[in-house]
Amino acid sequence: MLRNFKLYTEDDYTAMSQKAAEIFASAVAANPTGAFGFATGSTPEGMYKALIQMQKSGKADFTHITAFNLDEYYPIKPDDPQSYKYFMRLHLFDGINLPANRTFIPNGQANDPAVECIAFEEKIAATGGIDTQILGIGTNGHIGFNEPAQELSATTSYVKLADATIESNARFFATPENVPRHALSMGLHTILMAKRILLLASGKGKAEIMHQALFGPITTQVPASLLQLHRDVTIVVDQEAAKLLQ
Ligand code: F6R
Repeated sequence: MLRNFKLYTEDDYTAMSQKAAEIFASAVAANPTGAFGFATGSTPEGMYKALIQMQKSGKADFTHITAFNLDEYYPIKPDDPQSYKYFMRLHLFDGINLPANRTFIPNGQANDPAVECIAFEEKIAATGGIDTQILGIGTNGHIGFNEPAQELSATTSYVKLADATIESNARFFATPENVPRHALSMGLHTILMAKRILLLASGKGKAEIMHQALFGPITTQVPASLLQLHRDVTIVVDQEAAKLLQ
């Protein structure tokens, strides 16, 4: 069971997004030139919207951080609307004026994925490490694109997407066949090295896996269960996702 965690249960998606944005903004205020870790997907969209509002109204300043994203499809072009590079510009980076030279997302077009993964880890290390890492959770328990398996990657790696993930992410593509089958993703060690984890989950579809991740056995079959080994995890959920956590 995860013991060293703070759990915030908010009424709905909007309240969850606002709470998570406030927590993230105070982490940045405490370390305004630090490195921070970002996630894509539906869950953090509302939080990113709230962060842009905070920046615009002068309540927060994100312009001096360095950003590292968890993952990127492979192969994918950076200007493909389904790429995570495109997603981050659209939903956050352009709105907070974060210069492109301080935003790092694994390159979905790298000639050699293995070389790209090593370079990505080196960039994180050069900043002194990630302060706060934002995470969502897959309905199968994945974090980043670390899918349930016998073994998990420690560092950033070229990974194969699980069928469940392809099926779930097909909602963003014209057809399921268009979903890339591989990705580059931070590994479990990369994620667990962040000083603090900020995990978000919303909706009834995440209730069961949140319970397994936080209270079930630590197992590579539920990659998010490894967060039980981290010393500083903050979880922000809405009522529906929290249903089995009481
Ligand atoms: C995204 C990522 C994934 C998502 C997860 C949940 O960068 O790494 O692990 O966080 O698939 O996705 P949503 O938020 O769309 O339910």
